[in-house]
Amino acid sequence: MIRNITFTSISVCLVLNAVIAASNISWAQDKVAAKAVELKPVSTFQSITDEKQRSVALFEEAGKVIQHPRCVNCHPATDRPLQNLTMHPHQPPVTRGDGGMGVPGMMCTTCHGSENVPVIGQAETIKSIPGNPNWHLAPIEMAWEGKSLGAICAQIKDHERNGGKSIDQIVEHMGQDHLVGWAWNPGEGREPAPGTQKAFGELIKAWAQTGAACPS
Ligand code: HEC
Ligand code: HEC
Repeated sequence: MIRNITFTSISVCLVLNAVIAASNISWAQDKVAAKAVELKPVSTFQSITDEKQRSVALFEEAGKVIQHPRCVNCHPATDRPLQNLTMHPHQPPVTRGDGGMGVPGMMCTTCHGSENVPVIGQAETIKSIPGNPNWHLAPIEMAWEGKSLGAICAQIKDHERNGGKSIDQIVEHMGQDHLVGWAWNPGEGREPAPGTQKAFGELIKAWAQTGAACPS
């Protein structure tokens, strides 16, 4: 849906034009796959009789989402978010600042609004700007970039590094959180995360119920 041009989107476009003009960066967006990647349902894993093995297999399936660039781009290992399926450093350069909200003059909300906004006139390069009312960077202790699925799994369960969440709260966050849900509605020009948030949430729930075992 193309929204009416508001003052905000005009100023965002001006910022973008300036940024694009000032750099030789390729703004090529995701080559959106013709066929969306699926997630296997929980029932697929019932035949694994060993509960721990089943738990690991469920988490590995959910890992198709967790290690997808749509998630990892916001859980980087440095102070800079990543972009696109190529996971290149965010252009223009922005840093996390206080609470992952950016630094004065380059706050995330300068460009990222409460919803995805189609970009008109840059159709060959950038088709939309991601948006969500809660758009900001995951704290550094929640960095997933460059980590194995097993390491991410251990980190997600670690109260010191998961924002003090219980397993139930992690299940809820993965399956219900609106910012997490953005990954399945990422705006034009971006490949959504595999499956649906509901199917993903069910895998995580079944993983928790089978003891939340981590891949080695
Ligand atoms: C000057 C404008 C601007 C600012 C400030 C800005 N962004 Fe962005 N950001 C963009 C644009 C434009 C895109 C889309 C680029 C593309 O898809 O090629 C984008 C894309 C992203 C993506 C990639 C999403 C994906 O999966 O491909 C992430 C993550 C992101 N921004 C996070 C942030 C965070 C966090 C902040 C604040 C610390 C921030 N941005 C500040 C303009 C900005
Ligand atoms: C726009 C940036 C952004 C995107 C995209 C994003 N996250 Fe996050 N994530 C955050 C922030 C910020 C926090 C910390 C604040 C909070 O708990 O809400 C967080 C925290 C989390 C946590 C809890 C703590 C932990 O152990 O890491 C989980 C789990 C999580 N995200 C999962 C996901 C998944 C799964 C996806 C993709 C489907 C995703 N996130 C995409 C920004 C993002």
